[in-house]
Amino acid sequence: MAFTFICHASAVSEGSMGFFQAGRKSVLLVWPTGGELKAYRGRCPHGDMPLNDAIFKEQTITCPHHQWGFDCVSGKCVTHLVRNALHPYALRVERDEIQVDVGPVKAAHPPA
Ligand code: FES
Repeated sequence: MAFTFICHASAVSEGSMGFFQAGRKSVLLVWPTGGELKAYRGRCPHGDMPLNDAIFKEQTITCPHHQWGFDCVSGKCVTHLVRNALHPYALRVERDEIQVDVGPVKAAHPPA
């Protein structure tokens, strides 16, 4: 596993969600009230669209593109009878850093 720095721990609070970039990969961090911090790939499993404008309410992450809803703990779709689910990433907190294993990370823009 290769964990990558995503943000400082203070960037996400309980009951909220955040969208971050790790090179070209996007990461959705979600922390349900009373639950544990989770990390998912920041793209919707329905249409492979970015989830940067997704809405997090109670336990559900709603994609802004076609309003599919996903359970924030399991990642499973809760609004349609489909197997599509958010792709989970391994996550760890080291001191003040939230780190996620997103696989190999390429720079957002290769050096000129
Ligand atoms: S792309 Fe997310 S619901 Fe269609």
